[in-house]
Amino acid sequence: MLRVRGLRKSFGSLEVLKNIDLDVNKGDVVAILGPSGSGKTTFLRCLNFLETADAGSYTLDGKTYTLGRTSRKEIAEIRRKTAFVFQNFNLFSNMTALQNVTEGLITARKMKRYQAEEIGRMALDKVGMSERAGYYPHQLSGGQQQRVAIARALATNPEIIFFDEPTSALDPELTGEVLNVMRQLAGEGMTMLVVTHEIAFARHVSNRVIFMDEGVVLESGESRGFFEAPGEKRVREFLRALEKRDV
Ligand SMILES: Nc1ncnc2c1ncn2[C@@H]1O[C@H](COP(=O)(O)OP(=O)(O)OP(=O)(O)O)[C@@H](O)[C@H]1O
Ligand SMILES: [Mg+2]
Repeated sequence: MLRVRGLRKSFGSLEVLKNIDLDVNKGDVVAILGPSGSGKTTFLRCLNFLETADAGSYTLDGKTYTLGRTSRKEIAEIRRKTAFVFQNFNLFSNMTALQNVTEGLITARKMKRYQAEEIGRMALDKVGMSERAGYYPHQLSGGQQQRVAIARALATNPEIIFFDEPTSALDPELTGEVLNVMRQLAGEGMTMLVVTHEIAFARHVSNRVIFMDEGVVLESGESRGFFEAPGEKRVREFLRALEKRDV
C-alpha cells in the first residue's frame, strides 16, 4: 500500500536520513524504534510531507511520486489519504473537541458543517470522547486531548495514520487509555506507522518493527522474531535499556 525507496534527507550538511526503504501493507501496524536523534520523527514527517525529503520514491495506492519534486497538488492528493498524530496533540486551544475534529473537514475538504459534525461525533465516540465534545483542550487531560487528536485523524477516513510518540508527553497513568484506542484501531484493521518507546505496544500490537539508528534502518522484521532474537548488538542493548527503564 505504501512503498518508499531510497528516502534521503539532510539539514544543511547534516545527513539525517540515509537511503531509507519502507513497505507497509494494508492492515499493518509498524512500530519504529530507535535512539534519540536517529531520525524517526524526520522520517515520519517526510512521509506526510511536513518535511520535504531530498530524494527517493514514494508509492501510495499504486501511484508513484518522486520525493523532492512533488507538486502541491500531489502533496494534497497524498494528504487526503494520510493522517498524522503528533506527540503534543496539536489541538487548537480556542476550539472545542468537536470543532478540532471538524475544522479540517469543513475548511480543507469543503464539507457541510452538519455533515462534518455527524462524522466528528462518530469519530469522538470511537475514541470514547463523545461526552466531552463541547470541552476545550485546557479542560481535558493529556490522554483525552490525544484521543481527540486521534478522532481528528480518523474523521478524515485515512488509509494510513502516522503516529509520532503519541504517548510520550503523557503521565504514565494516561498512556494506557491512548494505547487502548490504538490497539482497538489495530484490531479493526487500521494501517498505522507508529514511532514509539512503548515496548509492550510494539511487541503485542504491532506486527512489524523497524529499528533506526543514525539515519539508517539497522534491523527490521516481524515483531515476534524481532523481540525474541534481535540480530544486531545495538538493538539488543537498546531493548535491554528500555526494559530496565519500564520496571
Ligand atoms: N528542522 C531541523 N533542522 C536541523 N536539524 C534537525 C531538524 N530536525 C531534526 N534535526 C536533526 O536531525 C536529527 C534527527 O532528528 P529526529 O527528530 O528525526 O530524531 P528522533 O529519532 O525523532 O529523536 P527523538 O527520539 O529524540 O524524538 C537530529 O540530529 C536533529 O537534531
Ligand atoms: Mg522524535
